[in-house]
Amino acid sequence: EALEKGGYDHFMLKEIYEQPRSIHDCMRGRINLEDQLVSLGGILEYKDQIVNANRIIFVACGTSWHAGLVGEYLFEELARTPVEVEYASEFRYRNPVINEGDVVIAISQSGETADTLAAIELAKSKGALIVGICNVVGSSISRATHCGSYTHAGPEIGVASTKAFTAQVTVLTLMALMIGREKDTISNERFTRLLIDLHNIPDKVESVLKSDAKIQHIADIYKDAPNALYLGRGINFPVALEGALKLKEISYIHAEGYPAAEMKHGPIALIDEEMPTVVIATKDASYEKVVSNIQEVKARKGKVIAIVTKGDSVVSGIADHVVEIPKTDDLLVPLIATIPLQLLSYHIAVMRGCNVDQPRNLAKSVTVE
Ligand code: G6P
Repeated sequence: EALEKGGYDHFMLKEIYEQPRSIHDCMRGRINLEDQLVSLGGILEYKDQIVNANRIIFVACGTSWHAGLVGEYLFEELARTPVEVEYASEFRYRNPVINEGDVVIAISQSGETADTLAAIELAKSKGALIVGICNVVGSSISRATHCGSYTHAGPEIGVASTKAFTAQVTVLTLMALMIGREKDTISNERFTRLLIDLHNIPDKVESVLKSDAKIQHIADIYKDAPNALYLGRGINFPVALEGALKLKEISYIHAEGYPAAEMKHGPIALIDEEMPTVVIATKDASYEKVVSNIQEVKARKGKVIAIVTKGDSVVSGIADHVVEIPKTDDLLVPLIATIPLQLLSYHIAVMRGCNVDQPRNLAKSVTVE
């Protein structure tokens, strides 16, 4: 087992560190910078149906559901296709409205999650085209779908999903770009810029991993916190949800992810000197608003750990700790901003003596309903 961990203390840490490679593998052969092309071979046969979809419905569970939420922003922004994101376990027990021209995209690392599989069967019986985004080749979900794209992240052993999530978001970005290109809902300049930025993501992830020692230091300060709040806006709201999920899964600290502006409708009541709030405060369209959300937390003496864009001097003047990440297109920030949150949870869990790779009560894939 030590050999399989490749020198790392845990599979989770190994898988976090594999992300420059796994994101690269996920894009390999799918982006052509020279010809300005994105091609996903596994969905080619059904491309027209996907491009012309009236509506796209993502079904997934857990971390994969968070990837779907990121996908919603990507598809709406780049492809202008209306999107709904559904918990498979809710979707399957409703009488969901599925019309002709709807496409259901199932996202699953393992490809074995029982609720996601059942949601697929239901949507299929109502005549929808089903597209899969799976990591495990030949899995039940990959076989139950009409077509799909594998994430190519390699085996993920740690129960808390890390590299599979960033690979799912990478595939969703590629799909949104492909559809947007076909529909002509992206300008040529934006398309080119996104392709270049996407191509550079593995290097940027690599550079974020260099902040590990700093993140470990932050983890040491907050390891005994009973609660934590994670805030983000726009496409970074799902990143906040995923950060909170990672912390509760492996460290057993109660954590909530919230859209930053919603904080004043509830979670703000929790803030005191003890409460750490992790904020994704990168320089994007909602930056100014997020800065005022940070000020609201600080005014109540809360502690703020902010994920900021490299060179930001405003947030570093207000927050208690900052972790810098390199600049990239707003739509690609989740691929980078997720990394420090994974590391933060990992170190806190290790310091608390938790079984990081096999947290209590959780399973890598939930094959029961
Ligand atoms: C379990 C795992 C999670 C995962 C979820 C969905 O809860 O512990 O890490 O996100 O299932 O799994 P899937 O394989 O369908 O992505």
